[in-house]
Amino acid sequence: MTTSESKVSQTLAALGVTTAEQVQSLFAEVRQLFDEDMSKDAVQILWKELRDKWIGRKSGLLTLIGDNWLKVASPDLKRTVGQELNKLKSHVQEVLSRREAASDSSEAGQSIDLSLPGVLRPIGTHHPIRQVFQEIEDIFFSIGFSVGEGPEIETPYYNFEALNIPEHHPVRDDMDTFYLDLPKGAPGPLLLRTHTSPVQIRTMEKRQPPVRVIVPGKVYRRDNPDATHSFMFHQIEGLAVDTDITFCDFTGTIDYFVKQFFGESVKTRFRPSYFPFTEPSVEFDASCVFCGGTGTAKSGGTCGKCKGSGWIELFGAGMVDPAVYGFVNYDPKKVSGFAFGIGIDRLAMLKYGIDDIQVFFQNDVRFLRQFP
Ligand code: PHE
Repeated sequence: MTTSESKVSQTLAALGVTTAEQVQSLFAEVRQLFDEDMSKDAVQILWKELRDKWIGRKSGLLTLIGDNWLKVASPDLKRTVGQELNKLKSHVQEVLSRREAASDSSEAGQSIDLSLPGVLRPIGTHHPIRQVFQEIEDIFFSIGFSVGEGPEIETPYYNFEALNIPEHHPVRDDMDTFYLDLPKGAPGPLLLRTHTSPVQIRTMEKRQPPVRVIVPGKVYRRDNPDATHSFMFHQIEGLAVDTDITFCDFTGTIDYFVKQFFGESVKTRFRPSYFPFTEPSVEFDASCVFCGGTGTAKSGGTCGKCKGSGWIELFGAGMVDPAVYGFVNYDPKKVSGFAFGIGIDRLAMLKYGIDDIQVFFQNDVRFLRQFP
């Protein structure tokens, strides 16, 4: 307690105050004390403490002044003390309520300030692989295909056997496979699918012809990463089965797709190939998109992309092998169809002139930003 503060617990007589002037200057002193309290940094003092100190009912300074100065004042000073006390009270109350209102509204302002701009986060774009997926899907949607899907963890039955690849078939060597390490006693074996072709089987098991599906997805092979290999890459499987599908429907569909994707001027051709689940099997090529099929680069030398041949290998395909229909209870005498397996990463690289497959998986924004 300061000396001025301690005066309120004494009577005026004890303080030696006997005249009206002395009363007024005593009240002026108290008022100054109050004003000093109010000028303190509001954050550092506790608001409630200040209120209690001044207007607390039991021991606030105003109550003490009323008890110790007014009630026991001598009759000739009582009037002045009463007047001074009323003036002080209204000053104290007015200042306190003004300060309270200000602090309330500043607190409210802190919780919601609607004028603050929001946090703007940059919006990303689709990965180039996803963009190519969508572009290819749209082309096939336009000719009546729909999207199917299947699991990335497969059984050997769907990945191999039902596709006419029995256990010791040499073609399994081409697909160095990731088998899952399963706990003892778990039903297995399971593997990461090496191609999207198992979804051909899963689709035909569920549906009767006519079937026209494409299956975009991830596939896995035990390849060492280099400019053209990755242990995970992307394919779109295609399957069309109906009662009257011919080899012409097949090549016409592929030619339509390739022209839509690379441009009208691109030509297609197919060469004999081999897949256990298609017969006949083919490999589709497109005329080289870099040299226009001439085999000669713009600089005059041999085109490095097609090595001068004018053709670029695209993907494998073929007419569905009748043996496959046996696994899904389709009647091979009644139905026919074709299938294809497009490597998306490879197609994206050809379309955009990318020469290293690894850039798709490095998440370098300098690369990704080139595909807005
Ligand atoms: N599944 C084959 C592969 O991954 C591609 C393919 C699909 C071939 C459909 C013919 C028919 O190599």
